[in-house]
Amino acid sequence: MSTPLPGFQVMPALDDDARAALRADIEAHGIQVPIVRTRDGRIVDGHNRAQIAEELGIECPAVVVDVGDDEATEMALRLNILRRHMGPVAWAEAFRRLAEVRGVAKRIGRAGRPRGNADTLSALSRELGVEPRTARRRLRLAEKLAEHPDLAAKVDRGEIDARRAEELVRRENFDRRRAAAPPPPVVALGSGIEVRCGDFRDVLADIPDGSVDAVVCDPPYDFPGVPLYSDLSKFAARVLKPGRLLVAYCGKVDLPEQLGRLGEHMEYVWLGAVFLPGRHTEMRSRMVRGRWRPVAIFSAGKYRPRHWIIDAFTSEGNGAKGPTDHRWQQSVGPFVRWVEQVTEADELVVDPFCGSGTTGLACQATGRRFLGCDIDPASVSLTIERLRGVEARDVESAS
Ligand SMILES: C[S@@+](CC[C@H](N)C(=O)[O-])C[C@H]1O[C@@H](n2cnc3c(N)ncnc32)[C@H](O)[C@@H]1O
Repeated sequence: MSTPLPGFQVMPALDDDARAALRADIEAHGIQVPIVRTRDGRIVDGHNRAQIAEELGIECPAVVVDVGDDEATEMALRLNILRRHMGPVAWAEAFRRLAEVRGVAKRIGRAGRPRGNADTLSALSRELGVEPRTARRRLRLAEKLAEHPDLAAKVDRGEIDARRAEELVRRENFDRRRAAAPPPPVVALGSGIEVRCGDFRDVLADIPDGSVDAVVCDPPYDFPGVPLYSDLSKFAARVLKPGRLLVAYCGKVDLPEQLGRLGEHMEYVWLGAVFLPGRHTEMRSRMVRGRWRPVAIFSAGKYRPRHWIIDAFTSEGNGAKGPTDHRWQQSVGPFVRWVEQVTEADELVVDPFCGSGTTGLACQATGRRFLGCDIDPASVSLTIERLRGVEARDVESAS
């Protein structure tokens, strides 16, 4: 039997275990599914079967197709996607290539969002027996793991869960940021936006009393962070103008204590909420899956309402984090709404726990001045990057 011509090997080789299993099956039952080859003998589908048949010196039945190269590549991809057991990342890669060969999408956009003909892409995923939503999720995953082939392979082999792999990529990216040079202690960006690095009790100590229009923040929710709520209350009571608001995202496990501490120096006004679509925190010990976050609203002295406040918003997105996101990064949308409701244009908003700078982004979007800080230099660097990104986009769109 002659060695087949190279042909259309569109998929990565089988791993050792899968190949050994296929070989054992062929030894026991022969070639059950004929290979597909072109008239000139190039294999479209069945490279492994052909090779194993040759190794074993047995007959290898073949179906001959009369197709051009593009059609053969398309056929090879389609047959492999339909028949071969593939993990989500390998599936996404094969799907992306099939979409390209078909000319269905010139380019599948960032995070798996199809540019161009979304309907046709959905039709293609359905043709392959996969819901478009699942196809998009796999495409997003493949993109996030593009620079981490080892993790992608582990996900495909089922050795690690996709969410865990994404979390590892995010952490690695953040560690890289942490290992880079620390940001300067104070960075002033255009239009009244300033970011500082350090403990808010030190680096915001120079803010004059009664000079701030709102404190909008998302302090750490974990138990060691609980005492910070007392210091936050003291800080906000000092820097806020009389009757102005502190808006603080809270956790749920220690909510009573967090509210109690916020009330040490400030007056309770209201409890708002942000609904979080998608998968979020799961507390096994209490068997609760969290779908919302409390937002505590306190005033410096007696509250002096200036605007009606809507007290609940739904976060955009599905809660999934991007590969370079901050561990606790919140959606910008609800922060925009809080900032808009508790301040007016040009007023000053302070966030003592800025993390990745979400409050700052909301201030940029709504024309408020912003002063933020974080104790973690990597978070401050991320904040600066994100705020500069928005500035750069503004400059581009203005020119
Ligand atoms: C829940 S995260 C904020 C996330 C942010 N809202 C976002 O969307 O990215 C809380 C942040 O508080 C910071 N932090 C903790 N203690 C601090 C302190 N004493 N002073 C300043 N920042 C602090 C942490 O480093 C963390 O980045």
